[in-house]
Amino acid sequence: MEHPDTLDNLLHEERVFRPLPQMIIEAGINPHDLNAAKEFAASNPEGYWEEAADELGWFKKWDKVLDETDAPFYRWYTGARCNIVYNALDRHIETVNKNRLALIWEGEPGDQKQFTYYDLYRAVNRFSNALRSLGVGKGDHVVLYMPQLPETVVSMLACARIGAVHSLVFSGFSARLLRERIKEIQPKVVITADGFYRNGQVVRLKEEVDRALIDNPADSLESVVVVHRANVEVVMDSSRDYWYADLVRHEKTQAAAEIMDANDPLFLLYTSGTTGKSKGIVHNHGGYMVGVHRTFNMVFDLKPTDIFWCSADPGWITGHSYMVYGPLLAGTTTVMYEGHALYPQADRLWHIISKYGVTIFYTSPTQIRTLMRFGPKYPNQHDLSSLRILGAVGEPFNPEAWIWLHKNIGRGQCPVLDTWWQTEAGMIMISPTPVSVLKPGSVTKPLPGIEADVVDSCGEPVPAGKGGLLVIRRPWPGMMSSVYKDNELIRKHYWGRIPGMFYAGDVARKDEDGYFWIQGRADDVLNISGHRIGTAELESALTGHPDVAEAVVIGVPDKIKGQVAKAFVTLNHGVSPSDDLSRALKEHIQRELGPVVIVKSIEFKDELPKTSSGKIERSSLC
Ligand code: WT7
Repeated sequence: MEHPDTLDNLLHEERVFRPLPQMIIEAGINPHDLNAAKEFAASNPEGYWEEAADELGWFKKWDKVLDETDAPFYRWYTGARCNIVYNALDRHIETVNKNRLALIWEGEPGDQKQFTYYDLYRAVNRFSNALRSLGVGKGDHVVLYMPQLPETVVSMLACARIGAVHSLVFSGFSARLLRERIKEIQPKVVITADGFYRNGQVVRLKEEVDRALIDNPADSLESVVVVHRANVEVVMDSSRDYWYADLVRHEKTQAAAEIMDANDPLFLLYTSGTTGKSKGIVHNHGGYMVGVHRTFNMVFDLKPTDIFWCSADPGWITGHSYMVYGPLLAGTTTVMYEGHALYPQADRLWHIISKYGVTIFYTSPTQIRTLMRFGPKYPNQHDLSSLRILGAVGEPFNPEAWIWLHKNIGRGQCPVLDTWWQTEAGMIMISPTPVSVLKPGSVTKPLPGIEADVVDSCGEPVPAGKGGLLVIRRPWPGMMSSVYKDNELIRKHYWGRIPGMFYAGDVARKDEDGYFWIQGRADDVLNISGHRIGTAELESALTGHPDVAEAVVIGVPDKIKGQVAKAFVTLNHGVSPSDDLSRALKEHIQRELGPVVIVKSIEFKDELPKTSSGKIERSSLC
């Protein structure tokens, strides 16, 4: 087993990086402004978030900024009418942004597409009309099982434009998981692609959809829309399946945006939870739009010349908030890359940065740890001088990888912003800005309007330097609006574990300067390469194998992925442990849950340790 120095380093890190004078001179938001914003937000939180909302366009303004009458079911901007897509597209069509690049897309084989705001606006309108002609309207659910394609962005925005609720299922997940989601979500339409390119291979996506739809898991489902991408042969069911290109060909380039209530749902996105059941996190048009817009502008201090690249997948919240909605709300250019970071070799990301002149690169610690293994040789082959800001999210950023990124990619000149947030949060919560004093491994301090703290299980603040539970003390506009089909979790779990505070599920500590250091999850959720995966999901997949009697999964530290899964299993009577079986079980998990779900090792046991009540004692296996 590999033992990284992550935690140790995090506990002893003392290096400090001050912003370069040039960064402060050029800052739109200097340290003084940031402090003033923090003070204003602390003394008048609703005033602060009202001001943030005033920067956007509304069909009708709110009666109340924050409605707490049904707390902890908070409501933001009640009475307001808006549509996030109006702010992401229509607003820009009226300004110089009209002909500015909205989206730069690169396929893994090297093909490219670029869309100005006007192009994207028209593409979204055409697909909005196509969806409407398929009978999709306000409140309907649409599942997107899509890789990184321009049509993915267009589909998200088209759903939102017509008031339908989009729900992305990560394209690295299997047919089984997709089927479960489709069963839960009951979509009217599923949008997918024939296939896509990944590490030099074609992943056949439509086939997975066909498998997921065997015996009709959703009565609601009427159509499947297929984007033609990878030229693979697919079976099209003429009563149900349509090619995307055929649907949009004759559609008009105008489509009215649906007038939404600020508290109407925008999307539904599943995340792994403690109970083992995935939670459908719902975000609304109004609060989410304000939260993402404000934090995107503040954290990355956008300039009109920026080219922004968030290398996350649109199937995760990072892709929703900071690849699609944030950049488009801000009117900047967002970059999207279809494929693998190591294809055809380990310089692909650096190549993309230099090719398009990316100025802000928002990535994950795993991606950096994967690439730093290859040394500075690859980044050194490219001109990375366009970069001015680097950022990361998803898992604890070990100082060694932070420093590597700062030195080799940022040439010592770009601040590295380690941003903490989560699907439930919708927006960045604890993060430096380009003018902050940085400590490698720390997410620094909460953004204005965010009251974060580290407390014990009774809600008492713990002293500086001591570990505890990360909580948020007051509501924020990007916060989830509900949990699909299980909304009581808001009262019982999120605001109920520690009464009156939002429980994030992370362990953290604050140092003497008030800097936050996130240590990892506090619950039975693994964080593998920045993907939240419930141990219960892995365990149930394992016990689904005919040879397995019982299974327990724990997370163990890993140098590259941060954490990996290790399984302990007992076998059914008459089955003997073997390397072949171990391999078969690992493959079984990937077939069941998807190729991203990697179990590093499997240990066969005669018996699993149990408590007197018969529950498996996970802690004794760690
Ligand atoms: C969990 C949320 C928000 C987008 C990515 C994942 C971990 C997130 C950091 C960070 C240490 C982090 C937490 C959090 N996490 N950012 N900067 N440092 N850990 O979204 O799938 O909802 O996962 O990711 O454990 O709770 P998600």
